[in-house]
Amino acid sequence: MIQRPKGCNDIYGREAKIWKYVESIIDATMEKYNYTYIRTPIFESTELFHRGIGESTDIVTKETYDFVDRGGRNMTLRPEGTAGVCRSYVENKMYGDPNQPVKVYYNGTMYRYERPQSGRDRELTQFGMEVLGSDDSLTDAEVISLAVNIYKMLGLKEIKVNINSLGDKESRDHYREALVQYFKPHIQDLCEDCQARLEKNPLRILDCKVDKDNPLLKNAPKIIDYLNDESKERFDKVKEYLDLLQVKYEVDPNVVRGLDYYNHTVFEIEAKVAGFGANNVLGGGGRYNHLCSEIGGPETPCIGFASGIGRLVRALELEEIKLPIVDSIDLFLMYVNEDEKKYAAYLSQELRMAGFIVDTEYTGRSLKAQFKQADRLNAKFIAVLNSEDLNNNEIKIKNNKTKQEEIISLDVLIYYLDEQLNTGVEEEYDNFFFEKDECHCEDDHHDCDCGNDCHCHHDK
Ligand code: HAM
Repeated sequence: MIQRPKGCNDIYGREAKIWKYVESIIDATMEKYNYTYIRTPIFESTELFHRGIGESTDIVTKETYDFVDRGGRNMTLRPEGTAGVCRSYVENKMYGDPNQPVKVYYNGTMYRYERPQSGRDRELTQFGMEVLGSDDSLTDAEVISLAVNIYKMLGLKEIKVNINSLGDKESRDHYREALVQYFKPHIQDLCEDCQARLEKNPLRILDCKVDKDNPLLKNAPKIIDYLNDESKERFDKVKEYLDLLQVKYEVDPNVVRGLDYYNHTVFEIEAKVAGFGANNVLGGGGRYNHLCSEIGGPETPCIGFASGIGRLVRALELEEIKLPIVDSIDLFLMYVNEDEKKYAAYLSQELRMAGFIVDTEYTGRSLKAQFKQADRLNAKFIAVLNSEDLNNNEIKIKNNKTKQEEIISLDVLIYYLDEQLNTGVEEEYDNFFFEKDECHCEDDHHDCDCGNDCHCHHDK
């Protein structure tokens, strides 16, 4: 049997409904903060990620899916969304739009060749947002608060926001020197990758997955002690705005992030719920003021955040949050013969267009088995169509919970269901109904014999 690739997932059934719900909350919340949706390609030139994310990062050295296309170009499946958004901002000259900053959000698959384990996939779905064209510390605080508010809107309680500052270039240069001096005498105790990182990019040692529990890393100098006055002031301002927005956070000097493009604010949001395991970071982000210029655009201050939807769904499950997922249908239409089947098909469509969730039989089940199917689908109402009732313009409809049965006129079926289910679709249906109905005669539809090409199902 052909199996799905390692580290990839099939999302279907109830889980897919949870994903769709989560995505609807993401869309709605982003809209409130006035972010617009952006879609960029799933693959980009390899150079974009090498330049953007950093040659010495784990993502670029070990995790990208690279390929040469049929035209001989080096391409990479995107491992994250930020570099592509910046490329798009630069290429489409969005920086020239007076409407700055540009605030965008995305939701899509990313690819990282990692060792698959719980919370760490090779195909992952991230939602994220980027603010391009503002250096205002309020944007840093707002991005963090937006991320937190999405989690809160979904009902998550057990989250923790950890923030840090990587400062400006001057601060980082001082810190870099301090790290080299600190690690040099002990470098043999660290993994081969870290030995190479010492000269190239010592900050990456702090982010090493192999040595992450080595006390050498824990006791290393902290960037916060190397921030110059300007960087400190900036960080204080971000904290002031976070307080104002009532976002709870902790300053964690160990947050350095795994991508090279950051400066100043960096942050991660963890799920603190029991059972989450090691990969408990729901999302992370930070400021990246030099990425646009790094890839050939103008110097543009930016901040952003991204979060794995898989991890988020898992956190919701572990916190046992009840989500408003529709796990039932309004009506299941059953039938025995071909004429009734045709009416079931017609009526299903009418009712669906009126706003109800309706299903019917497609596999030739016996009537008894159709009842079982209705139960499997959690049908709130069921109806067995029969030719005699239909000829009388009637339908026998049963509340599948109370088992109460009623014979009602087909003319009032929509209004009956609406009242019973409290769906509020009646008004919507009226609009739909008259738009579709081509009959313009003044007569009551029950008695209509206008001779027009009238498709109203009330007509004789
Ligand atoms: P990142 O920390 O690499 O940041 O990824 C963000 C989130 O994506 C992680 O916190 C995690 O939830 C999820 N994630 C990452 N890798 C995996 C994986 N292998 N399996 C499952 N989930 C994963 C970024 O990608 C930056 N682009 C964030 C950003 C946006 N910074 C500024 N703007």
